[in-house]
Amino acid sequence: MSHPLSIEPCDAPTSTEQRQALLHNPVFGKVFTDHMVTAQHSADKGWHQARLKARHDFQFSPGTTVLHYGLEIFEGLKAYRQANGSVALFRPEANAKRFANSARRLAMPPLPEAMFVESVKALAQLDKDWIPQQDFASLYLRPFMIATDATLGLKPAEECLFSVIACPVGAYFKGGAAAVSLWVSDHFTRAAPGGTGDAKCGGNYAAAMVAQLEASRQGCDQVVFLDAVERLWVEELGGMNVFFVFDDGSIQTPPLTGTILPGITRDSILQLAMDKGLTVREERYSIDQWQQDAQSGRLVEAFACGTAAVVTPIGSVRGNRHEFTIGNGQGGEVTAMLKGALLDIQYGRADDPHGWMLALD
Ligand code: PLP
Ligand code: COI
Repeated sequence: MSHPLSIEPCDAPTSTEQRQALLHNPVFGKVFTDHMVTAQHSADKGWHQARLKARHDFQFSPGTTVLHYGLEIFEGLKAYRQANGSVALFRPEANAKRFANSARRLAMPPLPEAMFVESVKALAQLDKDWIPQQDFASLYLRPFMIATDATLGLKPAEECLFSVIACPVGAYFKGGAAAVSLWVSDHFTRAAPGGTGDAKCGGNYAAAMVAQLEASRQGCDQVVFLDAVERLWVEELGGMNVFFVFDDGSIQTPPLTGTILPGITRDSILQLAMDKGLTVREERYSIDQWQQDAQSGRLVEAFACGTAAVVTPIGSVRGNRHEFTIGNGQGGEVTAMLKGALLDIQYGRADDPHGWMLALD
């Protein structure tokens, strides 16, 4: 390929003993592997200097664009130890495509999709001993890109740094697979039409932080956002998409109208549900209807889904104007069935009819 990745394993990797200790129940995002990928972009050279080497800190001018104007995008995907002992990535091409779309939305130079896939593959391969052995554990890969022009001038990025780091992870939520509680944010919104809601950029998460803090203060695990125009329609959670399950066995999720992130887990769940013969709808659903249906029993389950959170049942929803429990508050069988079907493919325990898994060499 036109951007050869130079692979330079580090001289002093973490000892096996130390690594085993770090791999025991890692808190999400706190433990990092030995290596990382970096590549540079400049106006004259395009993408160049792609390297996989020892993880290291960055040094920047205090005038660096990302520090002032938030020109940053990222991705999240996982490498899984397969039932046969090999390692495979889940749908990295889909992340590569979304990363390029996010770059275009922030007027940053898109990374060639092949270069994205080669980078995540090579890092997962070199650091595969960092994948924990426990059930439900995996290696979370975090590709990201920042604008590194050293200027306070407000202009599109020319110089950029692309990087990939990796973290061994177990369950995202403290409670493991238990149902989560949501707080309805009726004051703060996450994204407006024409904004950056469907890009995976750091700024979206920065803007959502105060709403997540409010949720935590209210004793809830996650915030659920409503649309910015009518403050009626359920959009998504701070870091996950949302699905509803009805008593007729159908499932529904908000449509991709530009204000929510097009989740790869969301897309996979829609496909798996169709494979199982369920009726699926991508239609908007109001928070008031959600409460009414949960109370009448028409809505029987709801779940959140994303790379980090996998599939997590939603047990209860609260807000200034809402309070309801979903089903028995613990999750239900459709959620469990879809989660099982997804995990079976990701861990190589089931056939992969859609060709989602990319095996490492
Ligand atoms: N929505 C938001 C805001 C997210 O941060 C994520 C996580 O990446 C998702 C949805 C789910 O996306 P995916 O399934 O691609 O991880
Ligand atoms: C992911 O699931 O990859 C996310 O981005 C969620 C969160 C950790 C930001």
